[in-house]
Parts: sequence; C-alpha cells; structure tokens
Amino acid sequence: MDDEWICGRLGEDEPWMLGAVNPPIFENSLFAFATAEELGEAIRNEDERYVYWRGTNPTVDLAQRKLAALERGERAKCFGSGMGAISATISSLVSAGDHVLVLGAVYGPTTQFLRYLEKYGVTHTHVDSLQACDSAIRESTRLLYFESPSYMRYEVFDIPAVTAWAARHGLVTVMDNTWSTPIFQKPLTMGVDLVVHSLSKYVGGHSDLVGGVVVGPSRLIRPLALTEYQLYGAAMSPHDAAKVIKGLRTLPVRMAAHQERGLAVAEFLADHPAVRRVNHPGLASHPGHAVALQQMSGFSSLFSVELDTESRQDVAAFLDLLRHFRIGVSWGGFESLVNAPALTTKESVRATMGIPVGLVRLSVGLEAAETLIKDLGLALEGVGRLA
Ligand SMILES: Cc1ncc(COP(=O)(O)O)c(C=O)c1O
Repeated sequence: MDDEWICGRLGEDEPWMLGAVNPPIFENSLFAFATAEELGEAIRNEDERYVYWRGTNPTVDLAQRKLAALERGERAKCFGSGMGAISATISSLVSAGDHVLVLGAVYGPTTQFLRYLEKYGVTHTHVDSLQACDSAIRESTRLLYFESPSYMRYEVFDIPAVTAWAARHGLVTVMDNTWSTPIFQKPLTMGVDLVVHSLSKYVGGHSDLVGGVVVGPSRLIRPLALTEYQLYGAAMSPHDAAKVIKGLRTLPVRMAAHQERGLAVAEFLADHPAVRRVNHPGLASHPGHAVALQQMSGFSSLFSVELDTESRQDVAAFLDLLRHFRIGVSWGGFESLVNAPALTTKESVRATMGIPVGLVRLSVGLEAAETLIKDLGLALEGVGRLA
C-alpha cells in the first residue's frame, strides 16, 4: 500500500459512504443498540465499538485507520491535541516508582508533564546522547522518550541504534515524529514501540486544527484506549477528524513543497554573514545529515538559525521587520512563521536547554521561496547591528 493511496483512498470505499468523495461526518454523541445484550458487549470493547463520542466514532476511526497505515502500525488512537496523546501515552506506560529516560531536547510541555508526574512518584532524567543513557539508566527505568530531529536544535538520533539499546535494557520506546510526519520517517519500522504526533502541524496543515495521535501495536494501544483515553477525556471530535482526513489528502504534495522551500530558505541563510549557524538536518553541513539520510526519506521545513548577536533587542527587531513571515507559535501550516525562544522562554530554561539568545525558529510555509528569501534578506539588513 503506498502512502498516497493511504492518504487519499484507504477506508473510503465502504458501502455506507455511497461513493461520496468525502466521508460523512458522524455528528452524534451516542449510538443506540437493538438489544441490551448488544450494548453490554459494545461497552466491554469500547476501544473498537461505537458507543459514545468520548470513546470513538466512525469519522475518527477513518482518520485512525489512515494514520496507522501511514506509520505502518497496527492501530492508532486520535486525541483532542498532541499533548493529549503524549500525556495519555506516557501515563499508560509508567507507575509510581518508575523512571523515564528522555533523550535529547523535547517539546517543552512534554518535559513539564514529566515534571508533573513527579507528584505521583514517577521520575525522569534528561540525557544528551545514547552513550549518556548507559550511566543514567536505573533498575526502575521503564521508558525511553525522544524526538528525532530534536526540539529547537534539530539534532538527529540514530533511531535503530536507540531502539536496539532500549531493547537490550527491556525499555519501551516512545518517539514524537511530528517534525517528519509519517511521509518522511517511519519510526515503527526502526523498532520504536509507540509513535506520537501533534496533528496540529503538517498533518492538519491549514492552522485550523488541534489534534494528536499515538500509533503502535494493539497490545499497547488497546489498554490506553480503554483507560487513559477514556478517563482523561482528551477525545478527538468527528469534525476535527474530518480535518485530519482532509489534511492527509494533500500531505504528500504539501510535504514535497515544504521540503523544497525550506531547503532553499535554509541554504540562503547558511550563506548569510549575519547568521552564525543553521540547524536544518537537510543541509550537508548539519552534523546529523548522514544519519538523517539513512532513516528519513525527506525533510520538513521547520528549523532554526542562530543570528550573530547576543542581544534580545536585535532578535526582536529582526522579527518585527519581517513582512511575509508572521510572528507566532506552532508550525507546519501553509503560512510561514517565526518564533524566538529569547523572547518567549524564561532565561533560565533557555540556558539549560543550551539555546543561544540569537536563535530564531522558522516554519517555512507554502509561499514561493524567493518571496521568503527576499523578506529575510531585507529584515537581516534592516537590523543595522547585524548587517
Ligand atoms: C514536537 C511537538 N510535539 C507535540 C506538540 C504538542 O501538540 P499540540 O499542540 O497539538 O498539543 C507540539 C506542539 O507545538 C510539538 O511542537
């Protein structure tokens, strides 16, 4: 099954769809049953049967089938946000007294959630490399969590090496694959146990959706669908599932365009005298480029640049001078966006994460690369001290 077919057609030739090219949205909070016996049976298998919106729904199910197939996983469970998927997934795998290893920089609220779990007796340790895992692992370590490329720095981890190490130590691995999307990277085929995504980024693609998903084997998805999904209640709505389905239809072509435009912009910035460094794993100069080529079939368009400055004012002036890039959080949409941790993150947190003052994150949208390059060039020139 190829990815384009999965994104466009998988699950869409069911008789109840009557040949409609877009599936109907099942807008109902509950399903009725012919007999009480049937209702009882459905409730016992609520991860798969349609009972109540907070469990699942045919529209959500269709999105889940497509996402599972794209990631080459057995099953997927969609959530009302990426954090809904991440918090439910981690909670389903740990108990009081357990320890979690976090490899590389991960999305801030994921770390915050791990800190939150400390009040339930779950501890965690951040490590920068696989070598460092050897000394950080404990008797009580159950889970290894990571992103590749990593958050803000876009460091690449050798996924087969990480999963082989984790398997040797009996750990479950969870990887956030939002950056690459399943179009460009399929971690489950490299030994990762569970993959999580924010669907709010490239998969949605139109900045009109917040959603998440976890994909993996039924033995891990079923218990979390029956427990954490139901109890935390971060359910995906059928309307949002329809947006996921719509986003998937164009995901392969959008990702090809994001890749091309992102690389053109990154190459321009890498040659600019006001830029110290560009953190984009698709550039040959990136330290993880060779590993990336082995495990990824392409590159998305979210990356960071380090401006040649130690001044927050210079960073703010640069952002303010941009006319085409908009200033905002999130990423992966049709529109180009910039964000700078020096202006949004506590000084102490930024320093612990090793993020320099001049770091600016860019999400390259679907506009023409020349337009974006011109915008960036003028803004860099406009900040006199940088020129
Ligand atoms: C890498 C990554 N993972 C997860 C999330 C969380 O997703 P959501 O905002 O859909 O909860 C984000 C959000 O920015 C993210 O950047």
